[in-house]
Amino acid sequence: LSRKVEMTNWEKGHYINYQKMSENLGIVRSRLNKPLTLTEKILYSHLDDPHGAELERGKSYLKLRPDRVACQDATAQMALLQFMSAGMPSVATPSTVHCDHLIEAQVGGPTDLARAKDINKEVYDFLATSCAKYNIGFWRPGSGIIHQIILENYAFPGALLIGTDSHTPNAGGLGMLAVGVGGADAVDVMADLPWELKAPKVIGVRLTGELSGWTAPKDIILKVAGILTVKGGTGAIVEYFGPGTESLSCTGMATICNMGAEIGATTSVFPFNDRMYDYLAATKRKEIGDFSRVYAKELREDEGAEYDQLIEINLSELEPHINGPFTPDLATPISKFKDAVKENGWPEELKVGLIGSCTNSSYEDMSRAASIAEDAMAHGLKTKSIFTVTPGSEQIRATIARDGQLKTFEEYGGMVLANACGPCIGQWDRKDVKKGEPNSIVSSYNRNFTGRNDANPATHAFVTSPDLVVAMTVAGTLNFNPLTDKLKDKDGNEFLLKPPTGLGLPTQGFDAGEDTYQAPPADRSSVQVAVSPTSDRLQILEPFQAWNGKDATDLPILIKAQGKTTTDHISMAGPWLKYRGHLDNISNNMLIGAINSENGEANKVKNATTGEYGAVPDVARDYKKKGIPWVVIGDWNYGEGSSREHAALEPRHLGGLAIITRSFARIHETNLKKQGMLPLTFADPADYDRIQPEDKVDLLCTELAVGKPMTLRVKPKDGQSFDVKLQQTFNEGQIEWFKNGSALNTMAKAAK
Ligand code: F3S
Repeated sequence: LSRKVEMTNWEKGHYINYQKMSENLGIVRSRLNKPLTLTEKILYSHLDDPHGAELERGKSYLKLRPDRVACQDATAQMALLQFMSAGMPSVATPSTVHCDHLIEAQVGGPTDLARAKDINKEVYDFLATSCAKYNIGFWRPGSGIIHQIILENYAFPGALLIGTDSHTPNAGGLGMLAVGVGGADAVDVMADLPWELKAPKVIGVRLTGELSGWTAPKDIILKVAGILTVKGGTGAIVEYFGPGTESLSCTGMATICNMGAEIGATTSVFPFNDRMYDYLAATKRKEIGDFSRVYAKELREDEGAEYDQLIEINLSELEPHINGPFTPDLATPISKFKDAVKENGWPEELKVGLIGSCTNSSYEDMSRAASIAEDAMAHGLKTKSIFTVTPGSEQIRATIARDGQLKTFEEYGGMVLANACGPCIGQWDRKDVKKGEPNSIVSSYNRNFTGRNDANPATHAFVTSPDLVVAMTVAGTLNFNPLTDKLKDKDGNEFLLKPPTGLGLPTQGFDAGEDTYQAPPADRSSVQVAVSPTSDRLQILEPFQAWNGKDATDLPILIKAQGKTTTDHISMAGPWLKYRGHLDNISNNMLIGAINSENGEANKVKNATTGEYGAVPDVARDYKKKGIPWVVIGDWNYGEGSSREHAALEPRHLGGLAIITRSFARIHETNLKKQGMLPLTFADPADYDRIQPEDKVDLLCTELAVGKPMTLRVKPKDGQSFDVKLQQTFNEGQIEWFKNGSALNTMAKAAK
């Protein structure tokens, strides 16, 4: 295990450390003394402190040391801006940034890419220069979708990766744990802090039998999504095992892991097998495959490992499925789909079929899809629906261009889009239907929530395998089951489409295509990070001010929020995402969705200094201008929802000192601490009701100490002041964050 094998062909000096992983695992084994799941093995072998860590599934918090970090271009902006403010010369953990989310599909690959480069120039320039400065690999627009690039170049069995995108789990197809996280977590790991994860439960999925005919790997996850629903995987890692895993291609396993995000799972993983070895070899990483074979015993579950929940699927009996509309867990087997269309009144005509995306754009997917298109064309038929193809990477595009599948798709009537997310993330200038017009589309993507693809709430979006997408475009209707229904050829003769066939890997090897990678330069000292001072999309972050060492008195309550206050209420998404790299601009959405307990309205609060009502961000800005810190009073589970770091950055930026609630969602609570704010909870939740929005409060910050309560002195407008006891969960290190103004300030101080 002491071999020196590089993690990737793109970097030098980052070796796969099976030796250390094995040692860590040995320590944990001697403590637990029981068979382990693959999930546990990978997590425990990345523990920061294998001797001392508590290890109870579903309960303990694990401090982990991931091998890599990956960010996509939308989430990377704030992550990099924050990292810069720590003042470190380079990232402490190997990291990459991928330009894939900002390219709109209009007329086809090259034109759309050129337009995106123009529109997003300042964002791309910022990302390119900051990556060069801080030693981060940069994949330019056109290189492909983050998860495909990770699988092709960076994933390796047994590794732990975090990525700022929900479908990061795709890399589970190469036997690693790859977890989607918020930007704040990525920044921590880039800056050498351990990454914290609640020890997940493990859902085992035992596969038996073998796929055949029209059934594809995608159908496994479509079936699992139907069983577990969109919430069933929450707090768990889905681990596949059993003889059925042996027959799946590596990229097919990646598809299954990718879409595991739709059931809320932390991630999904497959055990190392020969198909992974083949894929590593085909992507010029045979040495890694050989090394994994040496460590193979620890790259699968132990005999007798226990799962918190067990699902069994016999692949030989599995039918192709179509899931949707509007939710990825509404699973219908193809044999029942026609009836479901009729019963539910879903629009029967298929307007658009879309294949590709990070979920399903492997060489195997493309080859199988092309075989169906060829079969149709051999009978004189072309696509009846609009048909689009999104290659997942430049390597896939170049390879299918060389091997002919791309030409087949074009002859069949398809439009080949840029190697990017495109319609999957709503980057689609769709023209064939009007907004509000009910219609159906079928894609090989993973997510089909209302409006996701085309912003039309009346679009019925279904997800399925690329095979079924193409078959349905031949028929142009949802009322078609290619397994049983005949089509008419150009002469009116009936025929059945042949089941798809296709190679898993290209016999001539992959064609890398255009060079789209920017390695960090050897001399990074002279690199200037490009941010225009007049930009409205990007803004350099100024370090937050350190605490003044005093108690805070006479603070106004910016808002007493009532009921659910999610991170979406605190920092709304949608059009605001344009400003995710510009803290001051995006702060104009701060708490605009929260409900003011005083009037039951959103975004209307009284300014304590003027008596006038205004929008929440405006009132906060007015306090900030006047040098008055403020607090927010919140209800139960404040800050639930996605772990958006902007929800913690914005109140800090606009001058907030404390968020005082009945309870917090844990990630948001930690995020607030990281930004130097005080997340505090009422010792007696009933005290929430004793505080009125117009009261002033004193907060005795000097009382902050590990495990000690703090005092909030409430000063009602007309009445006696009274004290309320507050709880807090700060540890020693986190108290330093507060004192220094933020976690990053603390790191910057330590780095000096
Ligand atoms: Fe992109 Fe859609 Fe995948 S947004 S990363 S192609 S899920």
